[in-house]
Amino acid sequence: MDKYIFVLGSNWQLSLTELDNVLKNSQFKGKITDYSANIAIVEFENLEQDKYYIDKLMEFQFILGGTQKICKIFDFIHVNTIKEAFPQHIEKYKLVEKKREKIASILGPVLEKTFVTINKQSIFFAVSIYPDLYDDEYYSQVLIKHFLPFLNKTIMSILKKKGAKKSLYYKYPEKNIKSGNLNPIFPHHLTKYGLFNEDRAEIVFGFTEEGVYIGRTYTADDPNFKKQVDEGRPFKEFKSSISPKLALIMLNFLNLFEERESKMILDPFVGNGTIPMFASIQGFQVYGSDIDGKKVENTIRNMNWLLEEIEEEVPYLLNERFDTLDIRDLSRHFQPSSFDGICTEPSLGPFFKERPYYNEIKELISSELEPLYQDLFQNSNIILKPRGRIVLVAPVFTTVDGGDLQINIEKIGTSYEFKFIPILDGQRIVNKSNQKLQLQEKHTKALLDAKKGQVVKRKIYVFEKK
Ligand SMILES: C[S@@+](CC[C@H](N)C(=O)[O-])C[C@H]1O[C@@H](n2cnc3c(N)ncnc32)[C@H](O)[C@@H]1O
Repeated sequence: MDKYIFVLGSNWQLSLTELDNVLKNSQFKGKITDYSANIAIVEFENLEQDKYYIDKLMEFQFILGGTQKICKIFDFIHVNTIKEAFPQHIEKYKLVEKKREKIASILGPVLEKTFVTINKQSIFFAVSIYPDLYDDEYYSQVLIKHFLPFLNKTIMSILKKKGAKKSLYYKYPEKNIKSGNLNPIFPHHLTKYGLFNEDRAEIVFGFTEEGVYIGRTYTADDPNFKKQVDEGRPFKEFKSSISPKLALIMLNFLNLFEERESKMILDPFVGNGTIPMFASIQGFQVYGSDIDGKKVENTIRNMNWLLEEIEEEVPYLLNERFDTLDIRDLSRHFQPSSFDGICTEPSLGPFFKERPYYNEIKELISSELEPLYQDLFQNSNIILKPRGRIVLVAPVFTTVDGGDLQINIEKIGTSYEFKFIPILDGQRIVNKSNQKLQLQEKHTKALLDAKKGQVVKRKIYVFEKK
């Protein structure tokens, strides 16, 4: 079996869930066998039977919104060996030395798999350590301060012994090492430092509760491209827009992985068009509507801008795919059973800078938001094809005086003949013992995407037409 490390995005639960869903339902069949808050270990069923499997990995990376890097695993060291070689407090130095030698002996064969040739080559490498959790003291005190320098020195000397003409490593800023606050190199640095070249590599040490997986990075996300699309488009409004990452993750929950170019996707609350833009990059046929004619105009201009940027042909009558429509009129406008999927972020209510009061939100939900979401489900049921999915965002409000409040989306969706799809299949992923790493029941139904302290949080839901 071929094993890979998937480096997860900052919302690791959502990234993990997206990954598992794609592994379960797409042509990239596989299983997550282990995970932490930073990585997932994936075993593919038959990836490497394909001669061009690296192209396949790149394709996989391209569709995922929540994966930063994919690395091929060459070896694994049990957590006990690591803890004996790098204890928090050294008691028996002899034992520590012996265990470190054992780790060094594992690194030789790993390096032979990482580099096609070592002899007479000038080699450059970067070591990246992904801990279980960034706020783990073992990471800041031991892994950064002792394990990282050990790896750099040992790898350099093994490469020299194996005949390398030169061997250099990427030096992290000294102040980060001293403070124990270090991020592994970012995806865009991989291209900057040429780390996909034959004589250069990022060597990843990914920790879980079980131990450390060692691999080489094969593909990485291109965040600059997403940023360029998100920020460079003529019309944007960051307060109300979802992130490109979230748009991609939501699109993947539509479970439309094959022949995307023939699949019709609708966003009936299109705003400035984030979802259709990224859906179009993914090859879908995109449609959109909004009650606000100005927003529809903006989306059309953004779409034209995007297609020119990526040098894609503008589809025939693109303008006619976007219309000014109240959600209540959706099914009068579009043909019944015409869409393969609906992916959308309806109105989340007014923009709150500070926490609102409980009663204010209760009123907002019952008078405005519930009817809006009901109209969405009622109309979607008509225009979606059988078993077509709707992936949507709904707000969670943090109030001053009554905790969190949200709309009962599950109840609304099921009352309009939709099947509620839990976002995570709890049976497929083995849970962890550390409480902070556990996927509790609340994570398996719908997932939050929010920054700390955000007043209105986004929650992602998935439904399927019966
Ligand atoms: C949160 S924004 C969507 C933002 C969008 N995802 C983006 O990235 O730009 C919600 C949109 O819903 C639209 N909207 C509000 N009420 C609506 C209704 N009754 N029917 C259709 N659209 C509506 C608003 O005009 C707004 O553009």
